[in-house]
Amino acid sequence: MGWLLHKFTGWVLVGYLFAHTAVLSTAVGVNPGQAAAGEDLYTETLRGLEELLIVRFLEVGLLAAAVFHILNGIRLLFVDLGVGLEVQDESFCAAVVLTAAVTLASVPTFLGGQL
Ligand code: HEM
Repeated sequence: MGWLLHKFTGWVLVGYLFAHTAVLSTAVGVNPGQAAAGEDLYTETLRGLEELLIVRFLEVGLLAAAVFHILNGIRLLFVDLGVGLEVQDESFCAAVVLTAAVTLASVPTFLGGQL
């Protein structure tokens, strides 16, 4: 179960990296018909995305995936070093609980920010 979640979040992060680069690279450059073109296009693109509630929920999900992958990844590195072999269930639970706490704490920021 834990390894599946680690794989899943790892590949979600890779997918996000490509999507993120694609979206932002099309949001820079010259927008014909606008005076201060590059900056306006970028700002408008990001504002347009942030106005969508689904994007804000996806951001919460992305944070959860990243935090879990990082915490569990650090845990796995310790396990690889032979540290904490006897408390793997507990350390996995700690990673999940910490991820939940950080994710819940982020909700007001992601969902309540200025549209
Ligand atoms: C501090 C940050 C990170 C830590 C500590 C970390 C740690 C790890 C560890 C230890 C593994 C190997 C797990 C195993 O033994 O099977 C792993 C796998 C992986 N990580 Fe990360 N990682 C981090 C950030 C990232 C980021 C930013 C991405 C993507 C952009 C990523 C993508 C992946 C992928 C795709 C795998 C392979 C999953 C698989 O198919 O087995 N990781 N990570």
